[in-house]
Amino acid sequence: MSAAIKTASGKIVKMNSRAGAALPDVNIYRERLWSDAQALIERLDRHAITPDEYIAEVRALHHSVDMAAELKPWIKRTLIERKDQVLNQKTMPKKAWTMQLLYLEPGEVHPPHHHHNLISTQVLLHGRIYVREWDRVARLAPDQILLRTRSDGWFKPGDRMETTEVARNAHWFCADDKPAVILNFYIHGFQSWTFDPPGIRGRRMLDPTHGVQADGLIVARELPLKEGHERFGDMPIVDVPLPRHLPA
Ligand SMILES: [Fe+2]
Repeated sequence: MSAAIKTASGKIVKMNSRAGAALPDVNIYRERLWSDAQALIERLDRHAITPDEYIAEVRALHHSVDMAAELKPWIKRTLIERKDQVLNQKTMPKKAWTMQLLYLEPGEVHPPHHHHNLISTQVLLHGRIYVREWDRVARLAPDQILLRTRSDGWFKPGDRMETTEVARNAHWFCADDKPAVILNFYIHGFQSWTFDPPGIRGRRMLDPTHGVQADGLIVARELPLKEGHERFGDMPIVDVPLPRHLPA
């Protein structure tokens, strides 16, 4: 077993990225929030809808349901057990999906990272989180990418992060001083075009404080997983300003 990843203060990091792990199939939640989502995955898979249309349809589905009421028992269980609750999960050779509730302990940070061939929707169900999201604009070097900031602020219950290969692919979020619960619904392997070549797995950490261009776009450096957690795992996001270009 590999050594646990820790933050600079020594907190052990809970890993919820697949990162190549073989995860068990789960199908314990079968209400409309899942069955309609599964129908959307099937439409995306046969190219009847585009990734952007899929994301919009998932949003419409979520708006048609009282999420807090529908998931109330699961939110309660997440807070009591203080751990993630996997509702639905399937892994196939080239594709995968997971619908789960994430438990964020007070102050827990998900350091800045980006994804490969992922489409995800994350909805805050309980508590308060701070979120920064970016579009990836270009790869500048083997370990550097250019980012455009899309959001930077506090989320209240109901607010959502939406991620595809081409929009808002990179993000960074943390809980305030109380626990938070997030619905995390992601699918892997459903996009034809990818920012980086095929074969990459899991989230990749970023340092968005590395630099900034005169046009305000952020020059982010990619970091090994361990370094990302050591660097950002203990700090509330509001305490880390993004670099700004200062005119001469
Ligand atoms: Fe993520």
